[in-house]
Formats: sequence, C-alpha cells, structure tokens
Amino acid sequence: MKKKIIAVLMAAAMMSVCVTGCGGREGAAESAPAPATEAAAEEAAPAEEAAPAAEEAAPAEAADTSASAGEGFEDGATIGVSLPWLGTQNWKEAETMFKEQLAAAGYNPIVQAADQKVPQQQQQIESMIENGAKVIVVGPVDGTQLGAVLEQAKDAGIYVIGYDRLLENTTGVDGVVQFGSVKTGELQAQALLEGLEKVKGEGPYNIELFGGGPADPNAPNFFNGAMSVLQPKIDDGTLVVVSGQTDFTQCATVDWDNAKAQSRMDSLLSGFYSDKEIHGVLSPNDGIARAIITSCENAGQEIPVVSGLDAENESVEWVWSGRQYSTVAKPTDALVAKTIEIINSLKDGKGMPATDVTADNGVKDVDIYELPPVVVTKDNAKEVFANDPGRMELLK
Ligand code: BGC
Repeated sequence: MKKKIIAVLMAAAMMSVCVTGCGGREGAAESAPAPATEAAAEEAAPAEEAAPAAEEAAPAEAADTSASAGEGFEDGATIGVSLPWLGTQNWKEAETMFKEQLAAAGYNPIVQAADQKVPQQQQQIESMIENGAKVIVVGPVDGTQLGAVLEQAKDAGIYVIGYDRLLENTTGVDGVVQFGSVKTGELQAQALLEGLEKVKGEGPYNIELFGGGPADPNAPNFFNGAMSVLQPKIDDGTLVVVSGQTDFTQCATVDWDNAKAQSRMDSLLSGFYSDKEIHGVLSPNDGIARAIITSCENAGQEIPVVSGLDAENESVEWVWSGRQYSTVAKPTDALVAKTIEIINSLKDGKGMPATDVTADNGVKDVDIYELPPVVVTKDNAKEVFANDPGRMELLK
C-alpha cells in the first residue's frame, strides 16, 4: 500500500514539475522559488487541459470531479486545526499563523497540537466535532491512525483538510495541502551530491543516511525521493554508505526526535568511523541535521556535508556560516494561506477547489494541493528569502 502511495506521489511530483514547465528541473532547484505550482498552472491552462503528459502517465489519477459545492457556512464559524506537535519551527509557525489569520478572516479558530500522541490527537478532533467546527484541518501524528474519528467528522458534515501530511487509509478527507514530499527528498539528495563535490574534493565519499519519523507519511517519501538520486551513485561506487544501513527502517528517527538521531550518529561514528572521515550525511530535516553535525563535531570529525529541511532560523544561520550545507524551504505562510483559501471557498459554498494532483491514500484518491519546495544553500539564500525579512535578517 505504501509503495502504491509512493508511486502515485512520485507521479504527482513529476506532474507538478511538468505543469510549471517541463525541463529546467535542475535549474528550478538551484534558483529562486517558483511560483505556487497549481496557482501558476491554473492561470496557464484550464484544468481539463493541464498536464496531459501526467494524465497519460497515471490515467487512474485524473482530477477528482466528485468534490461538489456544499451549502457554505456563516461568518464566525468554528474552524479546528489539529497539529501533530510543536517540536519543529514549521509547526510553531503554523500554530501562530492559523490562530491569527483565521481570526483575522472572521472565523473562530480552535488550534491545538497533539505532542506526538495519537490518542491525544483523536480526542482533540472529537472535541472539535462536538464544538461544531465546520472545517477541521489536520496534520496527523500518524497518517494511518485517524480513520474512525475523521469519518465521524465527515458524517457530521464537516470538511476535513490534511495539512502538510497525507491522511491515509480513510475516506474522511476532502483534500490535502502540502509541499511535494518526494520532490523534497530529491532536492535534499541533489544538494548532498553537489555539496560533496564542492566541499570534499574528489570521491568516493563516505556517507550515512537518516530518515524522519516512521509514522509520518512524509518521511518515507522524503527518503525514497532522496534514494532515487543517491542509489545510482551508491551502485557506481561514488558514494559509500560505510555502515551498510540503507533501508528506511534502519535509518528512520522515531518521532523525529533529534536526540535519537544524535545518539544513532554517535554510534555510527564510534562503530564505523574511528579510522575514517565521514564526508556527507542525508538528513531529513534541520533539527536532525544540527544533531548530526553536533555529533560529528564532538567526535572530532571535520563537518560533513549535511542536508536539511524547513529553513529553521538556526539552520539558516548555520547554512550562512557554512556549518550546514543545505536546507529546503517550505514556507509555512504559503501553506497556511493555501489552506485558508480553501476554507474560504468552502464557506462561500463553492466546495473544494479543483486540482489535478491526487494521491491514493489506501482507500481513495485524495485531492492534493501541492506547493513546490525550494532548496537553499549559501549561494541562493538571499534570493530565496528575498521576501522573508525575518530570515533575511539572519544572513549577515
Ligand atoms: C514536516 C517537516 C517537519 C517534520 C517534523 C514533517 O511532516 O513536513 O517540515 O520537519 O514533519 O516535524
């Protein structure tokens, strides 16, 4: 089932690349952020005509036309937002932005985070249903564990929107707003390869691989996207995974816990690198990247080339000072804005907006509203953050 989702997401990622213009993929990864994928696509071509190549590639995943307009709802309606935790900067930003922006748009927001605990998230969603929410926005702790409560929400006539992560194995979902997750992994791996060549001279390069939390549906997609780029280089001997640990299950970091990643890195270094240099590490996000770098510094290694994700403030500083090679920006403000745009459409009785990207969540094809992630290195940081005064401030 996971494989199917991954295959579909890969097709979706390819589709989103194609609708913004086939070719120039490499270039797009290196340069300033592309405009929001489907906004540009919708302007460029009517929905039925968009991405014919992708339709050929995945005919079963054509636009879901079943999303019908509802009756809409009143000003001041309650909107629930259930986030998985507040352990990384993106979720803290989402908490603040949803509270402020939903209130500013005239809604009554209930925004809660579940501290990585599935039962806590289920209870929070139940209470949002009891409180008469018209829409519930969910970033799941575990993509597969909310089926029953989300179906309960649907039965109560509530719209359910997945936020940043897919909602799996449930019919209780109307659409998901997220950044291309397979694409994110590809960008991380491309940056790792580029950094190795730039910083570490000629190969072969000794590397290790890290994945995110196994319950998070993004984590295997990030990893598989990255491996699609790295595996050929492992096969031809350019990259050597000295520990031999290349399966997602061996590399995953339970709960995205930085401390767990740091202790795995400590063990890898003491077990495999006492007489070797480590040149690079694939890291699924910024918190784990900083943990890996800290472990290498503690072990007296030269800092390896390390990838990241989220453009967290601390990592933006580390990228700027050369301590972390890259990160990937997936701006929370764009994702929250897209979500509120959909909520406004629902409020006005216009239903879920059209999109031509879908993903099989195990039981249905879910509409995906996909935004493009953008890789960040010291070379393009000023370009990427040109419209983000907070992060620009860190580039000094
Ligand atoms: C998000 C990342 C985040 C990670 C851990 C993922 O689902 O896409 O932005 O770093 O969760 O919180």
